[in-house]
Amino acid sequence: MAEEGFDVVVVGSCMTDLVSQAPRLPKAGETIHGHKFFIGFGGKGANQCVQAARLGARTTMVCKVGKDFFGDNYIQNFKNNGVSTEFVGQTDKAATGAASIIVNDAGENAIVIVAGANMMLGDKELQGAGPAMGGAKVLICQLEISPETSLQALRMAQERQVKTIFNPAPAIADLDPDFYSRSDVFCCNESEAELLTGVAVSSVEDAGRVGAELLRRGCGSVIVTLGPQGCVVLSSQDPAPRHVATAPVTALDTTGAGDSFIGALAFYMARYPTMPLEEMASRANRVAAVSVQGVGTQTSYPYRKDLPQELF
Ligand SMILES: Nc1ncnc2c1ncn2[C@@H]1O[C@H](COP(=O)(O)OP(=O)(O)OP(=O)(O)O)[C@@H](O)[C@H]1O
Ligand SMILES: *[C@@H]1O[C@H](CO)[C@@H](O)[C@H](O)[C@H]1NC(C)=O
Repeated sequence: MAEEGFDVVVVGSCMTDLVSQAPRLPKAGETIHGHKFFIGFGGKGANQCVQAARLGARTTMVCKVGKDFFGDNYIQNFKNNGVSTEFVGQTDKAATGAASIIVNDAGENAIVIVAGANMMLGDKELQGAGPAMGGAKVLICQLEISPETSLQALRMAQERQVKTIFNPAPAIADLDPDFYSRSDVFCCNESEAELLTGVAVSSVEDAGRVGAELLRRGCGSVIVTLGPQGCVVLSSQDPAPRHVATAPVTALDTTGAGDSFIGALAFYMARYPTMPLEEMASRANRVAAVSVQGVGTQTSYPYRKDLPQELF
């Protein structure tokens, strides 16, 4: 590691998903029987990191989990995926982040997220990871940790000439304007773009309009993902919106598709720094399309060996 440095550093969240499937969602005070339960590894930061690692990026995760069973398990999950755990901290002051999810037979859900240990990631941990950040190619962060920590991570990366990808998810309406100027690539989905700009996004043209507004706010480049329609890409050097379409696939479970896309994008930015952003986005579309054809979040993310060679 020392002489080579990391390709991708993720400063972000880890969550354990506790998923119960039931015929319907329970009412207040009610107990009902479900038919299936499973535990999954989630959290936007960790998802993005795992996807980048599976494509072959040297990755490290800067995050905080609890000193508990779920925290221990998550660290093992990173190791199983070849993600460095040097900067994964464990605290006894909060539990590992958890999402309790109930899904009914119609596919609707009710979710309680307890961020827990994720909110205890702060300045001290970032300073500890500073030297490793310095030798890295790309840093990614999101908003499932404290926004101040994310913004500081973006600043530290740019001071060290590390490219930044910022994913404003889950979106907050009053985003600190510094997030835009600190984003080399600002990557969001339709609902996030809408919340940030106040402009409804329901077409490729709308995505181009909100993308232009986000560029005006100071981002280097903007990508708005559009589910089965792929994405729209704009850059300050090339501000005309470009639609990067994707081949239609039969989606089985789109959970975590956005994170697969961003993990893949980070891989391409780190390993193919001179590739045009549109080409990276086109390849990231193809990686994310594989993820929607399998069930679960990280369980559906492809490895390099499962993908066509022309993507590398
Ligand atoms: N039905 C689909 N067919 C092909 N590709 C898809 C489909 N859905 C999503 N994708 C791919 O995944 C990327 C991200 O999808 P989307 O814009 O829905 O992100 P998201 O809303 O953040 O995802 P999610 O919230 O479901 O994790 C798209 O840009 C596209 O490349
Ligand atoms: C965008 O991502 C958020 C998570 O940040 C999700 O809740 C929302 O459903 C997504 N929107 C679309 C249009 O997929």
